[in-house]
Amino acid sequence: MDFTKAKEKLTACGQTHLLNWFDALTEREQDSLLEQIDALDLRLLDVFADFNSEGELERGELAPLGALTLAEIADNFDRFNAAGLDAIRQGKVGAVLLAGGMGTRLGFDKPKGMYNIGIKKTLYIFECLIRNLLEVVEQAGAYVPLFIMTSEKNDEDTRAFFKEMNYFGYNAEYVHFFIQEMAPAVDADGKILLEEKGRIAASPNGNGGWFSSMIKAGLLPFLKKEGIEWLNVFAVDNVLQRIADPVFVGATILSGASSGSKVVSKADPEERIGVLCLEDGTPSIVEYYEMTPEMITSREPDGRLSYNYGVILNYLFRTDCLERIAGNNMPIHVVSKKVPYIGENGELVKPTEPNAYKFETLVLDMIHMQDKCLSFEVDRQREFAPVKNAEGVDSVESARELLRRNGVEL
Ligand code: UTP
Repeated sequence: MDFTKAKEKLTACGQTHLLNWFDALTEREQDSLLEQIDALDLRLLDVFADFNSEGELERGELAPLGALTLAEIADNFDRFNAAGLDAIRQGKVGAVLLAGGMGTRLGFDKPKGMYNIGIKKTLYIFECLIRNLLEVVEQAGAYVPLFIMTSEKNDEDTRAFFKEMNYFGYNAEYVHFFIQEMAPAVDADGKILLEEKGRIAASPNGNGGWFSSMIKAGLLPFLKKEGIEWLNVFAVDNVLQRIADPVFVGATILSGASSGSKVVSKADPEERIGVLCLEDGTPSIVEYYEMTPEMITSREPDGRLSYNYGVILNYLFRTDCLERIAGNNMPIHVVSKKVPYIGENGELVKPTEPNAYKFETLVLDMIHMQDKCLSFEVDRQREFAPVKNAEGVDSVESARELLRRNGVEL
């Protein structure tokens, strides 16, 4: 794209400020900026305009969904475990680590998985996850292929770190990295931000694009060749995460559902956690801020909260069902975040409060694209220790405490 065309494109959508510093750039930087403008997906600006006028996306009719409870799982443990181990041994189960996020709330400038959560010892977040996965490998006597999603921002660091740490004892042949896509950030007026005079502020486009990014990375033929029928997707920041858990895998396969979700009983009605429910009759996840006060406090006859089962970003999907929905448009969420940007006078501004909006698709929306989802309850004390913030709720401190309670030395 040449300068004139870029100017036309930007004029049509009120974004000509992106060319404010064009003359001050080197020829190479100019070419790069023109390329970025060419690649800009302007539909996102419409999404932002809709968001400004209507707020979040509209929902269908919501209804509660129960779960396979801890007690029911205990009763069927051997059956589920055997079915899961069998699938793992046959190479039917892969794991997908979502590690493309920016981890802005934690305020750590490296990939979140590189955070050392140890105190006297070093214990990196990635290490916690790999250790947990290795327990399954040992139990099954077979490696689980591990796909790691990074972003342009953290890919190099992540790969180098795994290499440096010798994959924490995992067999490197079973580890595959792929990169997710980026989306531009806008300010409150919908103006696209620059992070450098010649670089549009773009950030990873949410964790919902993981399967299309796997396809773009050419991994689909590999999945087919290897006969990987199930993918267990999980977040980087839950240090107690059980990955490719045979009991969960087995229960989901035997249930006949095309997907499964690990859930925890809410700690209290107000807990800020997305809840697995039904939307227009199919599985869906309602965010805590989308729930009405009635939904939050409503109880079932047995006293349990009606919307009781919170998701912990640990889902199992059947690969062929993912393939079927791969071309479908996913809802785009607008999220407010802190994004450094070039100010009016050309200076770099580093905000201390959220100043910008990013566009994200979310893995949880994939659940609503499935006919059925097995809601599988796990014990939060054993499996849910998220590291979102530096302090307070879901922080390094709270995760350390949970690790200690589970016998992990720090
Ligand atoms: P979060 O929603 O906690 O986002 O991600 P984040 O970017 O890591 O952290 P904050 O909000 O900036 O503090 C949940 C999971 O989804 C992954 C994260 O790496 C984490 O495992 N994720 C998130 C991606 O892989 N890509 C994204 O674009 C966003």
